[in-house]
Amino acid sequence: MIFAYKNSRLYAENIAVSDIAKQVGTPFYCYSKQQLTGNFLEFKNAFSGIDATICYALKSNSNHNIISLLQKLGSGADTVSEGEVRAALKAGISPDKIVFSGVGKTKREMEFGLRSNIGQFNVESIEEIELLNEVAGKLGVKAPVSIRVNPDVDAKTHDKISTGRKSDKFGIAWEDVFLVFDKAKHLKNIDIQGITTHIGSQITSLEPYKAAFHKVAELFKTLREMGYNLARLDLGGGIGIKYKDENPIKISDYADIIKEVIKPLNVKLFLEPGRRISGNAGILVSEVQYIKKTIERDFAIIDAGMNDLARPAVYGAYHEIISVDEGLEQHNIYDVVGPVCESSDIFGKERRLKELRSGDLLAILCAGAYGASMSSVYNLRPLIPEIMVDGDKVEIIRKRQTYEELLG
Ligand code: LLP
Repeated sequence: MIFAYKNSRLYAENIAVSDIAKQVGTPFYCYSKQQLTGNFLEFKNAFSGIDATICYALKSNSNHNIISLLQKLGSGADTVSEGEVRAALKAGISPDKIVFSGVGKTKREMEFGLRSNIGQFNVESIEEIELLNEVAGKLGVKAPVSIRVNPDVDAKTHDKISTGRKSDKFGIAWEDVFLVFDKAKHLKNIDIQGITTHIGSQITSLEPYKAAFHKVAELFKTLREMGYNLARLDLGGGIGIKYKDENPIKISDYADIIKEVIKPLNVKLFLEPGRRISGNAGILVSEVQYIKKTIERDFAIIDAGMNDLARPAVYGAYHEIISVDEGLEQHNIYDVVGPVCESSDIFGKERRLKELRSGDLLAILCAGAYGASMSSVYNLRPLIPEIMVDGDKVEIIRKRQTYEELLG
């Protein structure tokens, strides 16, 4: 365990989390370089025998230092905005390893991607393909395109992060795929190189993957038989992690089903994992401000809010909360809440913890993915610092936003 207790003190690698808190103040995100590295290498090794590019999904955590670390380990990037494409390039990711996804790319974003020579545009509607064709024509280039298909498979995950069902806005509907290919093949500035799919996020069972990948592989074969010269298959991301009692998929099992599906195809494989790389590599550390006791319940009011970590408020997501300095007796039950003026600003209900006092530190676990990247300055609360721990070294990889920066 990278975040673990030693003599009743929570450590991040070889440093006591409370020592970091003394140095940087609270709240803050704390990441482990060792965990990030291990998580990425698990993917890389599982797919080492085949032509696979692991395109880390920047949206899960887009801190420059983290993208750079993954770039050095060989990662490509899955991006969804000009900002993310820029961040990938800034971190030194080679353009041909950058995939540009998303249903709503603007003309400007397309132009930027084309000028930057990125390797793949994942497109999701005929309207988008037509616009990309027009933009590429003006620049005198051909746009490398993979068409995102919606396999109509239920990923059995949270409704708000499911993307592969008929009713979701993502991908080309299964029954429209041939029509879209037929239209796209007449567009002079579009080079259709492959197909792509992504069925959702925080997926903890292999079954939906199996169903979707088989369907997509069959489609891939059929399209080739129809004469399309397809060379790329992008199978998205979505692999879940353990927040509470989930039993996450083993990357080696995931790799096995993919290898089996793609073996007869002879393709370049692209994957877009985010959460599984960054999720358990980060914690959010916060200080208890007040213990407010009511007849109903006891609230631990902390200095982090839903603007810093939105997942519990937005998705009702569960994050484990532990004391940074462990108490032997964990007999007290608290609702752990933030200071934001919203009833949904709750990190955990009825959590068993030691008896808390003002000034105690709490750690919210598995906050590395969709934590900092989804944070905001709601209530005019400055963005909080991000810290990278490497052995016994601590580096501030994003400074706390100052009020001058916040207020402009
Ligand atoms: N590729 C595409 C096209 C995606 O839409 C996503 C995530 C990924 C890859 C990466 O998925 P991952 O491996 O991280 O599951 N904010 C939500 C998650 C939203 C996911 C959006 N798409 C959360 O906090 O749970």
